[in-house]
Amino acid sequence: MRMDTSKNFSDRLIAWQRRHGRHDLPWQNTRDPYRVWLSEIMLQQTQVATVIPYYLRFLGHFSALSDLAAAPVEDVMALWSGLGYYARARNLHHCARTVQGDHGGAFPQDPLALAGLPGIGRSTANSIATFCFDAQAPILDGNVKRVLCRAFGIEGFAASAAVEKRLWALAEELMPRHNGPLYNQAQMDLGAMVCTRSKPKCGACPLDDICVARATNRVDELPQRKPRKLVPEREATLLIVLDEQGRVLLETRPPAGIWGGLQSLPELPVTADPVSWSESRLGCRVTAVSPAPTFLHVFSHFRLRITPLVLQVTEPTMMMEPGSHWLAADELARAALPAPVRTLLTQIVGSKSLLSRKR
Ligand code: ADE
Ligand code: SF4
Repeated sequence: MRMDTSKNFSDRLIAWQRRHGRHDLPWQNTRDPYRVWLSEIMLQQTQVATVIPYYLRFLGHFSALSDLAAAPVEDVMALWSGLGYYARARNLHHCARTVQGDHGGAFPQDPLALAGLPGIGRSTANSIATFCFDAQAPILDGNVKRVLCRAFGIEGFAASAAVEKRLWALAEELMPRHNGPLYNQAQMDLGAMVCTRSKPKCGACPLDDICVARATNRVDELPQRKPRKLVPEREATLLIVLDEQGRVLLETRPPAGIWGGLQSLPELPVTADPVSWSESRLGCRVTAVSPAPTFLHVFSHFRLRITPLVLQVTEPTMMMEPGSHWLAADELARAALPAPVRTLLTQIVGSKSLLSRKR
């Protein structure tokens, strides 16, 4: 990126912030790292309007880091109650004790050292260092990501590691040498007040004539959100092979993969003909074939559409393959069957003993 692009970008934001940004939030107009840190942690996943009363109440109880560090964690949790994401409160308390115990009660000033403390990530560390310690370090929270993705037309899922890396590099490049606090606050405020997630006010935006998303009519499409994961669907034909004594053919599944190690029904290879496949494998004759209703079984990563096929066979003449065995209806209750196979066999074989699995 050309130097003048980033200067242009930060100049516009800083000028906008001076005129239109927020200047009177309770955690502004201070360089006290305890107050800035507390606000940044509360603001990590919670909106400004919600945070304000909690922030003030919290400071009413713990006016200094040493008070917070000395308090029992239960008191901290009680003051946090209602803000959500309670790991933040536990980390907050842990961090207070760490700063009190390991740093003599003073927050370290270096962004990297700050980022090593409990609950403080890179963006929060940079924010504290910029607001309190004259660092010029960029922030990259959800609001900033949205502004950058739109202004620079960045494609890809904003939450992906690759896009995150690009955004950090961009944020570092854009960081001005002066006015770090104004510039960082400008991005938060622009993201919260103008470049909002829905219905951004592009007409009131200082970036309106350099914004790629606006110029290419993609404001609604950026940042790209990961589509809700579509669970793929697979199909399987399961054979219910019944011999003349009413026994069912089962196969032990390989240890890895779905239903690993369980006893299941033979799965017909996709292209195979059920009759010739069964006859050649078992050395029997198929005397009847009847399909049973197809049903869906949901696994965590895919859905399996199962088509059961009932085959009535004559006495098999061939050696069974290892892992294959015949089970009588009353033996099925003790078998390690996958739940949908048990349900299916209960319907087809109809034995009551199948319903409850005895050990
Ligand atoms: N979100 C994160 N930090 C903030 C701050 N200092 N002011 C407003 N919103 C914020
Ligand atoms: Fe966001 Fe619109 Fe400004 Fe672009 S012009 S940064 S989309 S508010």
